[in-house]
Amino acid sequence: MAYDRSRALFDRASAVQPGGNTRHMIVFGPPMLYASHGEGCRVTDVDGNVYIDWVNNFSTLIHGYGHRPTIEAVKAQAERMLCCILPAEPEVELAERICARWPGADQVRFMNSGTEAVMVAIKGARALTGRSKVAKSEGGYHGQYDLVEASFLPTAETWGPADRPAAPPFGRGTPQSLLDEAVIFPFNDTAATLAILEDQADHLAAVVIDPIPARLGFSRADPAYLAAIREFCTRRGVVLIFDEVFCGRAGYHGAQGRLGVTPDMTALGKIIGGGLPIGAVAGTRAAMAVFDNLAGPLKISHSGTFTGNPMTMAAGCAALDALTPEAFAQLERQGDALRAGLAAHFEALGLAMRANGLASMTSLQFFREPARNYREFHVRSGSDSLTRMKQLHGLMLEAGVLMATRGLMVGSTAMTDADIAETVDRAGQALARFAEAERIAA
Ligand SMILES: Cc1ncc(COP(=O)(O)O)c(C=O)c1O
Repeated sequence: MAYDRSRALFDRASAVQPGGNTRHMIVFGPPMLYASHGEGCRVTDVDGNVYIDWVNNFSTLIHGYGHRPTIEAVKAQAERMLCCILPAEPEVELAERICARWPGADQVRFMNSGTEAVMVAIKGARALTGRSKVAKSEGGYHGQYDLVEASFLPTAETWGPADRPAAPPFGRGTPQSLLDEAVIFPFNDTAATLAILEDQADHLAAVVIDPIPARLGFSRADPAYLAAIREFCTRRGVVLIFDEVFCGRAGYHGAQGRLGVTPDMTALGKIIGGGLPIGAVAGTRAAMAVFDNLAGPLKISHSGTFTGNPMTMAAGCAALDALTPEAFAQLERQGDALRAGLAAHFEALGLAMRANGLASMTSLQFFREPARNYREFHVRSGSDSLTRMKQLHGLMLEAGVLMATRGLMVGSTAMTDADIAETVDRAGQALARFAEAERIAA
């Protein structure tokens, strides 16, 4: 594969963008590959190399590229207007669609990213309760809001006792006063989590949890664990926030529908915007009342220049309309087929690896037994996992498969069964080269 044009673009980018990029999480190489265009489940780079896209802009493009209904909706809306200070009908239509699907959604407010959704949900919870602390699970990713970056990617040097995890900063210079507002609990450990939450109950505004975290390779929270947190939050008047920005694609009724536990607020993003920037906070009527300016003096204000912009709203409606129960069944069946195909390669090649996940979300892991929490995931992955994943990622690219740099693969409805079979076949070539390289290095 030639990468000349990508190399040239990366050189130009390096002069005007630090590191030659504007999103650290997507960085691999150099060279970075620059996209030219996409069609269906395939993306073509500026040098003409074609990849089956298993990232879909970090899960956003659940219908792949060139989804006609979404494109037509965006075109029609662009002709009407790009944005306006007055609200427009698509905003109401998207809110109605979200309320019809997520069990915990009676009402919705929109914003422009998942980061903003988590931030607004937390601010809402603080205003509702008059308390300031926020509990989150160890290692959890909830976007770039610095409070919830506490304990993102901790290591054995920083994570503290297993049953009382520390709240190390992610970014240098994070104020200690902010970290003091973060309460960290161990994912899937009911006794330790409840002990920590009970301890802090009088100070807690919210518990934020991603029920199927991508960062844990889609290890899901036990429904009984979530139910215990739900019971605690109800009893102590703490707002339970599910972060479904990623795992909202777990099914027609979201992750909460699948796992059977309903939060007070849900942070949404990605797929609900049809490929345009989006975030949303959906919640029960009681929780969302905190944003209701008609109910009395406001305890919290929420706006934003591009909030509820009709382009995104129109794209989101078209994308959700095509996400029928049948579409979810297809995504689930193809996800299962991908995981089975990858597992067969691991077995045949003697690789101690696992294809974890559910529905359209798959994670390639360097261990065989499923990890239930952040520490198991981190320790089992091994200290060389970043280097190994970088190598595997490169080999997959050479085999024509684009996956996320940390080994995530998310499907789209644009994929046919033949595309799944082709992916498994191409991944097999990459994995064979990977196994061979590891044998030589050993
Ligand atoms: C679970 C989760 N929460 C929040 C976010 C942040 O969303 P955004 O990147 O749209 O700000 C992400 C993004 O990947 C996510 O996966």
